[in-house]
Amino acid sequence: MDSKENIIVDMSGRGAVPGFRVTCPAIQHKYTEAEIQAVVDVMREACGQTQGKYMKEFETRFAEFVGAKHAFAVNNCTSALKLAAIFCHIQPGDEVIVPAYTFCASAIPFGDLGAKIVWADIHPKTWTIDPDDFERKITPRTKAVVCVHLLGIPADMKRIVPIARAHGIRIVEDCAQALDCRIDGQHVGTFGDYACFSFHSAKTMTTLGEGGMFVCASDEDAESVPGMRHVGACGFASERERYWVPAMSNVDSFLDDRWPQNFCIGEAQCALGTEELKSVVKNNDILIAQDRQIRRRLQNTPEISFPECPKGGRYVVHQYVMHYDGSACGKTRDDLLDLLTTKYGIRCIVQYYPLYRYPLFQKKGCGEADCPVLDAWWDNSFSFPWWCGIDEKSMDIMCRSLIDAVAELRGK
Ligand SMILES: Cc1ncc(COP(=O)(O)O)c(C=O)c1O
Repeated sequence: MDSKENIIVDMSGRGAVPGFRVTCPAIQHKYTEAEIQAVVDVMREACGQTQGKYMKEFETRFAEFVGAKHAFAVNNCTSALKLAAIFCHIQPGDEVIVPAYTFCASAIPFGDLGAKIVWADIHPKTWTIDPDDFERKITPRTKAVVCVHLLGIPADMKRIVPIARAHGIRIVEDCAQALDCRIDGQHVGTFGDYACFSFHSAKTMTTLGEGGMFVCASDEDAESVPGMRHVGACGFASERERYWVPAMSNVDSFLDDRWPQNFCIGEAQCALGTEELKSVVKNNDILIAQDRQIRRRLQNTPEISFPECPKGGRYVVHQYVMHYDGSACGKTRDDLLDLLTTKYGIRCIVQYYPLYRYPLFQKKGCGEADCPVLDAWWDNSFSFPWWCGIDEKSMDIMCRSLIDAVAELRGK
């Protein structure tokens, strides 16, 4: 190792953890001047700060982008998932099948409405929900399935949709990490009944740290979404002779079995969202090119494997998860991360505990699972530092360090 490289702690120029040569940047999202201007313009305009023309524009542009019929901006993706659970009419005792390898928010809104969460295993190659395991876990009480396009890998919707339809199961797509991910050109979020996107600060595009989009396929559901999103607020059905009688706004019930929520998002965030959408494809192309480079450089390191994208899919590489198989030399993922961290200065992490291992789900009665693939795979998975626009020097250090560390463990 070049000793000079040791003193470089922040190759990205965006802030990093001291003591490491390559880490995830502390500043994850750099706004362009046009994006900053979009927010400032709304502030200067000082119009109503919520539910106005910027929200409408954002929803229209977003629906066009993904090819969805109806899109509704909300304050985050967890709220969008809650709307999905509400529209699925989840009742206590219903079962909802969720992949056990995902972020906790994929399951929480369904558990909150009383569903029993049934954990589906991952497919050993794609690392997303295994369609065969989903089918095996269907019972007469299964109400919905949550298909998570985790890490930006499209779940196998071509297999899952017909199985779910044959059993009358509602399909929710969790696209939090998968904006612009596609299957045969069709965007994820348009295969099921409901879809949920995130604009959290760690995502491809962000609306000032929080934000989300709820997409639904049915015209009938779409009519109820604005009221369910905003405390049942709506207009009066008929013309009023005096506009102030009986009150400026009506409040109604839109779903018989549910109270409405307040999941609204501000106008400045929506104006920013419209601007950010313009760079999503370009930024994903950069991430995809970075992924190709790493795979090419690691092709002679068989211990490291990568997720397989289903045929015809566009994997938008939201995070950089890999799998290490050190069984031939008796080494583990933790041995590899020890070496990468202490000797090579690469700050790798391990993401998403299988959800049934978390105290939250165990305390809520969802700690049981039959997911042998995930149990074996997860213990050997790890993530590289990852951001859009990794400079060449960091990329070179990351790849060389991984190759060298694996070889060192192998004993060659
Ligand atoms: C797969 C997945 N689902 C849901 C969410 C929740 O998104 P939000 O933070 O916008 O509520 C996230 C956020 O990281 C996620 O990664």
